[in-house]
Amino acid sequence: MPAKFSGGTAGLVLAARLTELSDVTVGVIEAGVLRLGDAVVDTPALMGQSLFNPDYDWNFTTIPQVHVSQRNIPINRGKMIGGSAGLNFMIWQRGSKQDYDAWRQLGIGNGWDWDGLLPYFLKTEAVHPGPGSAGVSGKFHGQSGPLPIHYDNFDTPLEGPYAQALESLGVYLNSDPEAGDSTGLFNSAASVDPATGNRSYSAVNYFLANQDRDNLVVLQGAQVTKINLTPGNPIVATGAEFVVDNITYSVNATKEIILSAGSIQTPQLLELSGIGNPNILKEFGIPVVYANPDVGENLQDHTHVTSQFELNDPTIPTINLLNVNTTFEAEEQALYHINHTGIYTYTISDVSFHALQTFWSPAELAQSLTTLRNEIQAANLSKWQRKQVQIQLTDLENASVGQMELLFFGSDITVTNSSKFVDILNFGSIQCTGRNISAEVPFILVHRVSDA
Ligand SMILES: *[C@@H]1O[C@H](CO)[C@@H](O)[C@H](O)[C@H]1NC(C)=O
Ligand SMILES: *[C@@H]1O[C@H](CO)[C@@H](O)[C@H](O)[C@H]1NC(C)=O
Ligand SMILES: *[C@@H]1O[C@H](CO)[C@@H](O)[C@H](O)[C@H]1NC(C)=O
Ligand SMILES: *[C@@H]1O[C@H](CO)[C@@H](O)[C@H](O)[C@H]1NC(C)=O
Ligand SMILES: *[C@@H]1O[C@H](CO)[C@@H](O)[C@H](O)[C@H]1NC(C)=O
Ligand SMILES: *[C@@H]1O[C@H](CO)[C@@H](O)[C@H](O)[C@H]1NC(C)=O
Ligand SMILES: *[C@@H]1O[C@H](CO)[C@@H](O)[C@H](O)[C@H]1NC(C)=O
Ligand SMILES: *[C@@H]1O[C@H](CO)[C@@H](O)[C@H](O)[C@H]1NC(C)=O
Ligand SMILES: *[C@@H]1O[C@H](CO)[C@@H](O)[C@H](O)[C@H]1NC(C)=O
Ligand SMILES: *[C@@H]1O[C@H](CO)[C@@H](O)[C@H](O)[C@H]1NC(C)=O
Repeated sequence: MPAKFSGGTAGLVLAARLTELSDVTVGVIEAGVLRLGDAVVDTPALMGQSLFNPDYDWNFTTIPQVHVSQRNIPINRGKMIGGSAGLNFMIWQRGSKQDYDAWRQLGIGNGWDWDGLLPYFLKTEAVHPGPGSAGVSGKFHGQSGPLPIHYDNFDTPLEGPYAQALESLGVYLNSDPEAGDSTGLFNSAASVDPATGNRSYSAVNYFLANQDRDNLVVLQGAQVTKINLTPGNPIVATGAEFVVDNITYSVNATKEIILSAGSIQTPQLLELSGIGNPNILKEFGIPVVYANPDVGENLQDHTHVTSQFELNDPTIPTINLLNVNTTFEAEEQALYHINHTGIYTYTISDVSFHALQTFWSPAELAQSLTTLRNEIQAANLSKWQRKQVQIQLTDLENASVGQMELLFFGSDITVTNSSKFVDILNFGSIQCTGRNISAEVPFILVHRVSDA
């Protein structure tokens, strides 16, 4: 049987699709557990409450980061069947065309570009029209995939004025961010099922929907620690080791192994299994099976700062009002349970992407790019990594490419006992070019965290 690790967003999609073939048997090994019927996962307005909780979150952190006062930056990753889509903020949005076409530029063929992937994006989703989705054409929106997608049916009275403020600053309104250009301001879709008001994610819509299949087995609470590789030419992945309650087990695959553990733990498992940069593997006493200095490098992620604003009128319905006004809370509970609408289905809908040129003067941008180029020059990058950073540099210079994201959130993420605050989250992308360049996330630290 093909064995698969692990049961996250992509892993369960693959498991569900492969087991449509009755002669294929798939075993999925996942460290987290199934969280069905858990309101912290299901209820949109409770988003964020599972972050930093080790029952749901791997709760990784980076080593101290030079450019942010030596702080350790949190890296939240979902630890459950369904993976990080079980704890994220449910924004459902694809990248711009050129984000995917960059793979083709790198020489990755076989349809790994916008045109090749679009049919699969559409196949995944069942987009339900809703407020603010007018103008969204069917061409870029799947109608009959397993994953229900909706448009927020609840706005605070602040979304409109916030959008107007951005427009008055020259931010253009993007009527369809799924059509290949995701810059500008738009009303974001959310991975929420309008039929239930619950989060939609692969645990429900790909696993639960197919759990009766005899050829699909999901093992939960089992952490894969190593892929067993048989050296030779080619090297063959034959099985894996995994740990349940401190006891190590092993399993063999008769056909193949699919490693699908996300951007942090996929390279970690490759390294723990002997595939990676020999210098790093040696430091940890891991025998090198296949030397590849690119494993775990050039992670791109987005990190954020929060700008918090105090409201003049504390009766404006924000999510936090649920915690301080019991009448409001009871009304909204009834609405949510009976009609699957109201503030409990609230997600972030005002989303905008901006080029660096929006915020930086030409001189500031030129200076930063020079600094970055010097760091890249000084870094010991492989040929592959140089190709990657060249594409990233070209994009940074391009005033049509989004690098910064603004999200409006009608709630405060930290002060839950006061209704008075709203947050604007400012995301920037981290484009790390190696372990020793600014804003890097060293995977080896992740080993230390999870080995402890
Ligand atoms: C929706 O979420 C609630 C709260 O977790 C849960 O009780 C209910 O079973 C969920 N509904 C469906 C159809 O999954
Ligand atoms: C999770 O990580 C944060 C730092 O990002 C830390 O402050 C917190 O104590 C961690 N939680 C647990 C339960 O380890
Ligand atoms: C696993 O081992 C650790 C350290 O030896 C111990 O603290 C923990 O209780 C063990 N857990 C289980 C489930 O046996
Ligand atoms: C897996 O295969 C190896 C040989 O390739 C064998 O030694 C081992 O016993 C097998 N393990 C299991 C759990 O079947
Ligand atoms: C540069 O990287 C290559 C490939 O990983 C490695 O062989 C070499 O030792 C590195 N040089 C330095 C100075 O770190
Ligand atoms: C509490 O909520 C109720 C129902 O929405 C509303 O009528 C009332 O004004 C609110 N009270 C305060 C103090 O915000
Ligand atoms: C649910 O929706 C119906 C029809 O729109 C409405 O009449 C009813 O009052 C709503 N239920 C609640 C609890 O608000
Ligand atoms: C800049 O980005 C736009 C929009 O994605 C693209 O059409 C254009 O070709 C890019 N220009 C360069 C010089 O890469
Ligand atoms: C909210 O909680 C914080 C910390 O527990 C406390 O300092 C503050 O006074 C509380 N605010 C209100 C309005 O209850
Ligand atoms: C990268 O940084 C680590 C930790 O600061 C240091 O031990 C290592 O020598 C550095 N590697 C290179 C190639 O500069």
